Amino acid sequence: MERHWWQKEVIYQIYPKSFYDSNHDGIGDIRGITEKLPYLENLGVTMLWICPVYQSPMDDNGYDVSDYRALAPEFGSLRDLDELIGEAKRRGIKIIMDLVINHSSDEHEWFQKAISEPDSKYHDYYIFKEGKKEPNNWRSVFGGSVWEKVPGRDEYYYHTFGKKQPDLNWENRELREELYDMVNWWLDKGIAGFRIDAISYIKKDLTWKDREPDGADGLAKCSKASRNQLGIEVFLKELKEKTFDRHPCVTVAEAAGVPYEKMGEFIGDQGFFDMIFDFRYADLDIASGNEWFHRISWTVKDLKDKMMKSQSVMQEYGWAANFIENHDQPRAASKYLGSDQNDANAVKMLGAMYFFLRGVPFVYQGQELGMVNFQRKSMEEFDDISSIGQYQRSLEEGFSEEAALNIVNLRSRDNSRTPFPWNDEKYGGFSETKPWIGMTEEYPAINAAAQIEKEGSVLEFYKEMIAFRQNGPYHDTLVYGDIEPLEICDHVIAYRRYREKEAILCLFNFANDEALIRLEEGEHIPVWGNLSGTEIKGNEIRLQPYQALLINERTENKKPEK
Ligand code: NOJ
Ligand code: CA
Repeated sequence: MERHWWQKEVIYQIYPKSFYDSNHDGIGDIRGITEKLPYLENLGVTMLWICPVYQSPMDDNGYDVSDYRALAPEFGSLRDLDELIGEAKRRGIKIIMDLVINHSSDEHEWFQKAISEPDSKYHDYYIFKEGKKEPNNWRSVFGGSVWEKVPGRDEYYYHTFGKKQPDLNWENRELREELYDMVNWWLDKGIAGFRIDAISYIKKDLTWKDREPDGADGLAKCSKASRNQLGIEVFLKELKEKTFDRHPCVTVAEAAGVPYEKMGEFIGDQGFFDMIFDFRYADLDIASGNEWFHRISWTVKDLKDKMMKSQSVMQEYGWAANFIENHDQPRAASKYLGSDQNDANAVKMLGAMYFFLRGVPFVYQGQELGMVNFQRKSMEEFDDISSIGQYQRSLEEGFSEEAALNIVNLRSRDNSRTPFPWNDEKYGGFSETKPWIGMTEEYPAINAAAQIEKEGSVLEFYKEMIAFRQNGPYHDTLVYGDIEPLEICDHVIAYRRYREKEAILCLFNFANDEALIRLEEGEHIPVWGNLSGTEIKGNEIRLQPYQALLINERTENKKPEK
């Protein structure tokens, strides 16, 4: 694949509401990010993805935009943002913003006019249907019908997510042009690009026909008729040509459910985007789509198979966006390591396993500290709209209140949205005021101050790992090299990164037991890992519990036939 500047980035995701509160009103803000730039520079990340900071009633914490060209006052002003962009640039850090264009807030001027002036052009900016009952039986992602009644009229509007997030009607050309203008306006401001929200939902099955119900509520999940529908490619191509193609920017799309056979259209040199996230391995604890109570058990082999399949597909077509956490997922240590979530070696091994895959690594705030999930005792402690929806759905499906709460604790998006623990003081040094959402119980032990410059800490490990990829002797292979998935044993994830005459074997022991591994003939030199003193005897190596190890294979013959 042709080389691009963004392939060598390490992206750090910021959830602004919970990063740092500079004016002590309990809500994180843009100046808070600017103040903490030295921490981010020290960590070594090269780009920030900032979750939405646009004006919003915050029903879904900013994923409900009421003005695309203004910022939420609690986050700061456009001047604060310009300052952040400038300060970050001085430190060699680029910024990408979140772009939420599948839907707006119901408080957006367009929607307000669509309701108050139904004969105006704005009515067609959204999806309305006349009738005395819901036009079909589709279920929204957060639970309940996708249709909401317009008060005082026999009319319904469509929302994929929450009721306060009406979907924009991409079939309307004028609406699309307004969106493109806005995107260009932001790119002209000097941001490096966008993470694009929920973009696979912009085209719907226009027959709007009912589907086979799949739950006790008699509804059917909407995604089969509203995600990756035929014709979406026309909109995505136009979006790219009228905006992204006109700027030297990077785009990474949240495009859930793109079939692997179609990946070529989405990424790669001619793709709609530079990268897309693949959620198949992130959602391996849930059987079907978004409903959290369809929990399934999984093994390390399942994780390996899903991850390596994803890597192979991404390699065939383009470049991957690799992550183990984000603001919609529980903490990775809790999800993937279970009862060993507090074992620092295990946390480091997990971090290294995905970090050296082929693609751009994304680190979510707090991941670099090894943060873990919380245990909330009542539903009142939750803020997240989908946690509340999923709790209701679990009850409808026959789960007890206790079981439903347990499911929500395991999966709640609030798990990753707790305030960033800067130290062990009250409110973790995030704010002097009670934060908008409760801290994680573990913050007195797991916080930045306890790990900065502390030998052996997870944070120092992440710092070293980032430096090893970015500036180490194997930079070119670890960034640009191809990947070859390897089968070693069920609880060891193994792959080879290789390029020209260099090959780096990457081994990750997911068991709390030793693993004896027989290597291929040749010279093997351990070059990096989470434990020191690894000995290779002949062609045998004994991996320690939760060991991550990178080995220089020093050979010219390791490249598989292409
Ligand atoms: C995906 C975002 O990541 C999530 O946080 C949000 O709730 C939905 N899209 C709706 O915008
Ligand atoms: Ca604040």
